[in-house]
Amino acid sequence: MSKIIAIDLGTSNSVVCANIGGVRTVIPNDLGSNTTPSAVAFKKDGEKLVGQVAKRQQITNFKNTFSSFKRLMGHTFEEIKDEKTSYTIKANEKGLAVVECPILDKDFTPEQLSSFVLGYLKKCAEDYLGETVTDAIITVPAYFNQDQRVATKNAGAICGLNVLRVINEPTAAALAYGNNSKSDGLVLVYDLGGGTFDVTLLELSSDDDFYQVLASSGDSRLGGDDFDQKIMDWIIQEFKKESGVDLSKDGAALQRIRDAAEKAKCELSSQVSSNINIPFITSVDNQPVHLNLDLSRSKFESLISDLLERIKKPVEDVLNNTDKSKIKEILLVGGSTRVPCVVKLIEDMIGVSASKGVNVDLAVAEGACELAKTLEGNGSILLADVTSLSFGIETNGGIHHILVPKNSTIPTSRKEVFSTAVDGQESVDIVIATGERPLTKDNKILGTFRLSGIPQAKRGVPQIEVELSVNNSGILEVKAKDLGTGKSNSITISGSSNLTQDEIDKMVKEAEEYAEADKEAKQFILDKNELEMLCSNMKTTCEEQKDKQDSSLIDPVLEAITVAEEALKENDKDKIADAKSKLLTASHALSSKLYEQTQSVSPEEVIEAEMVDEQN
Ligand SMILES: Nc1ncnc2c1ncn2[C@@H]1O[C@H](COP(=O)(O)OP(=O)(O)OP(=O)(O)O)[C@@H](O)[C@H]1O
Ligand SMILES: [Mg+2]
Repeated sequence: MSKIIAIDLGTSNSVVCANIGGVRTVIPNDLGSNTTPSAVAFKKDGEKLVGQVAKRQQITNFKNTFSSFKRLMGHTFEEIKDEKTSYTIKANEKGLAVVECPILDKDFTPEQLSSFVLGYLKKCAEDYLGETVTDAIITVPAYFNQDQRVATKNAGAICGLNVLRVINEPTAAALAYGNNSKSDGLVLVYDLGGGTFDVTLLELSSDDDFYQVLASSGDSRLGGDDFDQKIMDWIIQEFKKESGVDLSKDGAALQRIRDAAEKAKCELSSQVSSNINIPFITSVDNQPVHLNLDLSRSKFESLISDLLERIKKPVEDVLNNTDKSKIKEILLVGGSTRVPCVVKLIEDMIGVSASKGVNVDLAVAEGACELAKTLEGNGSILLADVTSLSFGIETNGGIHHILVPKNSTIPTSRKEVFSTAVDGQESVDIVIATGERPLTKDNKILGTFRLSGIPQAKRGVPQIEVELSVNNSGILEVKAKDLGTGKSNSITISGSSNLTQDEIDKMVKEAEEYAEADKEAKQFILDKNELEMLCSNMKTTCEEQKDKQDSSLIDPVLEAITVAEEALKENDKDKIADAKSKLLTASHALSSKLYEQTQSVSPEEVIEAEMVDEQN
């Protein structure tokens, strides 16, 4: 079986892992780092940047730099229109959330942006492993709904990854832990990352490597980004009080404030106060104004108090019907569990000290890699995960009739028989939704399909069997069958806010085009470096030889260097290529002459001359 890579596609950071010689290994990216910022940017010349290099230029190119797009995955614009980002989010013709890239005059779907990150990690893995990789496991927040899961799978498909499984992040973290600790009992995984929050209760049995998820809950739009936003709002408000200047509409300033806010937040995890200092944030009457504020840990905690409240509800959900005293371990996962009050909150709720049994940044990818080992045929993990939301169909009066309740072990399949609502009804529309609210309209509608050709009969007589199946990746399939005629129809829910196969195919093609453009961009950089080097070397040679050689040989080289330096300044691809070839021609003439002259001197003569020189 070929190698399977495991990818934790995070809101802020992503990680890739593979089993090498039977050992799970975190694969460093091409900059040598184990974590890669989930960021994509486009430069003026259309070059695409991914990871650290994209993040690094975020302040200067904020409208064309995209991060935290995991929060947009599988969403309509309407659902996420409150998201605060440095780039513009809008609705496409289907009402789905897409981002605007002004430099390219083009829109990107969150799936495409994610595919750029996945593609980058795939390439890093291939370079590291020295082989082509196509199979992958990708992790998602346990609380991701159907649309978000399918969107993640599609992102993999766009960059040529065959996504074998989409598994829940907290479950993956538990697999990493189980492999480290080999002990039994109830474990609570508390995972707060950059954009999502998950809490999952599992029962571990080390004898047979069995992992039973008992309950899972969370919030797919709650994380460190929201902490940053609270600090940003506070900074803007304080600065306005002090200087009278409103920075909330100043895009460049906002990006610098966002950066400073995150830095302050991180400092406050280990210090009780942080100084936020941004020089030249704006100007008043042509005079520069600096931003300088102190934020204490207690003030930060009060700023995020409503977010801390939001963490409590999913924890309570998961603890429902559980004897808390049986929980032997709280596993902290995700960068935001470095915030002391976030940890204190869960410790107070459970009455157990939180453990650092796993690496908060790497555990999710490492655990997914343990499952990859089993799928590769070299491991023995038995995993029983659950659905974190209920699935049902709409019945008369718009009622959400649940067939698969939340926390059902997956894979699962549930059937029920329904009937028609009016006399002579020849078709039924099956509306599938996910969520816990009693009315379908208040839940997330996943899709609708029609079963037609039902023989006319009085209402309540036809028997229509509806079967909902949820696979190992938490993805739903629905079948409906008229038991009278045997007529059936089925669909795999691709979600209401997901891409069609045609759209995915188009994006795959585009991704291939980008790969070509990336290659060209890389070649351009190499050409430029080569030309710079050539200019510098030939300048030195001309300087050394100017009194020894005829000017008809030196001058053309110097002229070609001037042209080349001009082309480099203009950053023009064609001019650079042309200048390089001219400089090479002029340099060859000079080098040949130099070579001829060296050849005309015998080696013996050189040695003798040196000896004479020494004696002098
Ligand atoms: N020392 C720290 N104190 C507070 N927050 C921190 C610290 N270090 C990192 N973070 C925050 O952790 C978040 C990133 O965590 P992580 O890398 O686990 O997220 P992710 O896996 O990308 O996101 P998600 O799992 O939500 O998709 C960021 O918001 C970052 O600011
Ligand atoms: Mg994470």
